[in-house]
Amino acid sequence: MFKISLTDSSELEKLYEIEKNTNPSPWSKKNFYSSFEVGHKSLVCKKDKKIIGFIIFSIVNRECHLLSIAVVRKFQRSGAGTILIESMIRQSKVLGAKKIFLEVRSKNKKAISFYKKFNFETDAIRANYYTGKTPDDAILMSLNIG
Ligand SMILES: CC(C)(COP(=O)(O)OP(=O)(O)OC[C@H]1O[C@@H](n2cnc3c(N)ncnc32)[C@H](O)[C@@H]1OP(=O)(O)O)[C@@H](O)C(=O)NCCC(=O)NCCS
Repeated sequence: MFKISLTDSSELEKLYEIEKNTNPSPWSKKNFYSSFEVGHKSLVCKKDKKIIGFIIFSIVNRECHLLSIAVVRKFQRSGAGTILIESMIRQSKVLGAKKIFLEVRSKNKKAISFYKKFNFETDAIRANYYTGKTPDDAILMSLNIG
């Protein structure tokens, strides 16, 4: 049903569209292009050849940083996020990472529950980390994979 593949640069506009419509603090279009240019890893999840979700991460010094993940609303809660995060974990292990780090808004209960399902643990809370129209604390989470 779902198929995972590496992101092609021609797909970045679509990733930005998904991000805008799903993420409480969306990346700008420029963020997507710079992320691709600096070599962050990016996977897309497709259903019937259409992109319905993506994950972006970077691996430095045996650490994987989950930078962004989103699934279009219509397809949320149907397992696409699971396939994306499991693919990232597999790739991270192959590339020698021992731990995965991420940060999430404290009010983003959906995402927190998602990460907990994969055994991510809370390391710290960074008060008032997110500023702007919808300020929030950041929850820093990690998962050992080594
Ligand atoms: C977080 C997100 C990527 C999860 O993707 P998804 O495809 O919906 O996740 P899955 O269907 O694979 O769900 C896996 C598990 O996560 C948890 N989960 C997912 N959505 C949930 C929700 N709305 N409420 C509670 N738990 C949820 C459940 O444990 C679920 O397992 P279950 O369905 O067997 O109970 C998706 O909700 C999303 O795109 N959110 C908006 C963007 C965002 O907030 N990104 C994270 C920024 S840090």
